[in-house]
Order: sequence, then structure tokens, then C-alpha cells
Amino acid sequence: MGGGRAAPSELNVRGREAECAVLDALLEGARAGRSGVLVVRGEAGIGKTALLEYAIESASDLQVARAVGVESERELAFAALHQLCVPILDRLERLPGPQRDALQVTFGLSEGPVPDRFLVGLALLGLLAEAAQERALLCVVDDAQWLDAASAQALAFVARRLLAESVLLLFAARQPSDELVGLPELVVEGLRESDARELLRSVIPGRLDERIREQVVAEARGNPLALVELTRGLSPAQLAGGFGLPGALSLEGRIQRSFLARVDALPEDSRRLMLAAAAEPTGDPGLVWRAARRLGITAAALGPAESAGLLEVGARVAVSPPAGALGRLLGGVARGAAGCAPGVGGGDRGRGRSRSAGVAPGRGSARP
Ligand SMILES: Nc1ncnc2c1ncn2[C@@H]1O[C@H](COP(=O)(O)OP(=O)(O)OP(=O)(O)O)[C@@H](O)[C@H]1O
Ligand SMILES: [Mg+2]
Repeated sequence: MGGGRAAPSELNVRGREAECAVLDALLEGARAGRSGVLVVRGEAGIGKTALLEYAIESASDLQVARAVGVESERELAFAALHQLCVPILDRLERLPGPQRDALQVTFGLSEGPVPDRFLVGLALLGLLAEAAQERALLCVVDDAQWLDAASAQALAFVARRLLAESVLLLFAARQPSDELVGLPELVVEGLRESDARELLRSVIPGRLDERIREQVVAEARGNPLALVELTRGLSPAQLAGGFGLPGALSLEGRIQRSFLARVDALPEDSRRLMLAAAAEPTGDPGLVWRAARRLGITAAALGPAESAGLLEVGARVAVSPPAGALGRLLGGVARGAAGCAPGVGGGDRGRGRSRSAGVAPGRGSARP
């Protein structure tokens, strides 16, 4: 990933000192030749991806391979494993013949009978160990609740056998799939109240009525996504007003209303660009912009969506806030708000935040 270490505030790990210390220790272990495994577990929007990003930023001296579970690829055997392995496939030839053959057939690189799952597991272990011989290897698997079963099985097989290969395997999952049950976990809870208040102060530059602050802090239960989204739709007058939050609306109702209002305020083309980004599971900028061009959307559509905080453009293009998290909080509001037909992204499909796999540093520009 990019050079240098990002400041913790940029990485959204406020109040996560203990969690970051766990990750630091695992990374230190990998540098010293010890392997490690951790499943970062917690509800939607609680900050799992933020912690994975912290680990990646802290691992600029390691190789990094990433994969993300994509709900729509759940039925595709080995889809996630393929994402993870693409950048290290050149090490295949160093594996013993049967293992090499097993992975080559698994990834469609050669023909042959479907290999035994055990052999695939062994081959994966061998491949990761080979890659880590040069430099410690950090493997990051986000949204692991949506891994295809074959990938989850192979990764769990490896996770249970890693010893001294300098491989650190990090998963993030809302709830671990059956395959990952029993692996070491870091359960991510809500932020402490003091950190939640701090977070609110940082996202609301103006005055915030004390009663509103307390109500938001209480309702969000330390969930960073909820903390940020809950106050977004309120005007400065409402925020400072002392009348309390619009009482009749539920937490979900308010987040939904705020999100809808922000999307509604965008020009048509910016909304369609969001839709294209939401429909592209890997966030690959090249694909998003190709789709946009086909739809007649120009680069001018980006500005409004970006400044409204609805589209993040970095090495990848992603709808913000993460559509998966929003969908979970709202039961599919993101889909409706972006004007998507069911099945075309958004909602609880975990796509907005999906990232393409690959070894850092990221490839190509995210801009048109
Ligand atoms: N400690 C924190 N301080 C400030 N902001 C945070 C913190 N943790 C997370 N956030 C912000 O909250 C939002 C949700 O966080 P994140 O995407 O990491 O959640 P998640 O647990 O991965 O959710 P999902 O299960 O939907 O993938 C993001 O916008 C993130 O930047
Ligand atoms: Mg996430």
C-alpha cells in the first residue's frame, strides 16, 4: 500500500488501542517468523474493515494479499481463494507436482480431474509458505461471512496448520461461517462512550446540543457507522437546537431519511455513477469507468458524489458509507436509495465496500 504510516485518525481506529495492539503483536510475530491467524468479528459498521486497513497500513514492510467475500460469488467455488492467490501464483512452480497440479486445475489454469480438497489445502499452505520465504506475508480476507464454502474450507485448513511460515492470516466477518468457527477471534464491540462522543465532535464541526449528543450516543451503542450516519441528515439548527432529535423516527428511519436526502440531492449522472460503482463488486476503477462511459456518464459526475461523501475514490471506487453496512442497518435502504433494481448492487450485498484482491501497492488510477 502507499508509503508511510497513516495517522490513526485517517484510519478510523479511534478508541481501538487494544485491538490495534493485538494486530501489532501479530504483525511483529510474522516479521519474526511466527505465523498467526485472527478472525475480527463484529456487527455491520462496527469497524472491522477499518481494523484490517490499519493492519495493512502497518504492514508496509510485508507482502500483502487480499480477498473479499462477495455475496453474489458465494456459489462460485474457490472465487475468493483465486482473488487471494493471483498475486503469488508465480510461486506455483516451486510446489511439489501434485500440489501444483491441484491448484492449477482449481484455478482453471490447466485441465484435469477435480482435485481432492485435502490436496488443495496442502497446496495453498505450500504456496503461502513459499511466498513468505522472501518476505513475511499478510493475507487479509474481508467480509468472510460471504466466502464461497470451498475457499473458506481451504483457508480454514491452512489457518489450523500455520506454524512458522511468517504468514499472518486475518479475516473480518460479521459472523464466522461454519468453516471458520473455532479460529482465534477478536470480537469488536461498540466504542466506549467517551470515544463515541469524540467521534461525534470530529464529524460535527458546529455546535451539537447536549441532549442530541446523548441520544445519538445512546442509540448508536458505540457503532461508528451509526454514530456518523445518525446526525448526517440534521441541519445545523437542529443539531444546535435543543429540541432533541425528531422523536417519531426510529434510528433506522433517520439514517434512511438522511441517506435518501443526500442521494436525492445529487445530479442524475452522479446517482447513476453511484449505481455503477455499487454494481461492480471489486471496486475496480477501470471497470467502473468503462461502464460509466457506456452509460454516457462523464467524469463531471464524480465531483458531486465525492463531495457529498457518497462515493470514495482511492485505489478503488466504492460507495460510501459501505453499502453492506448500511444495508444491514437499514434492511436494504441503500438499494432503494441508489435507485437500484433488486440484484443490481447496493442493499445488503456487501458490494459497495468490496475491494479487489491484489498485492500492494494498488494498481492504476481510480480516476477516469
Ligand atoms: N474507530 C473508529 N473511529 C472512527 N470511525 C470509524 C471507526 N471504526 C469505523 N469507523 C467508520 O465507520 C464506518 C464503518 O466501519 P467499517 O466499514 O470498518 O465497518 P465494518 O465492521 O467493516 O462493517 P461491515 O460489516 O458492513 O463490513 C466506516 O465509515 C469507518 O470509516
Ligand atoms: Mg467491512
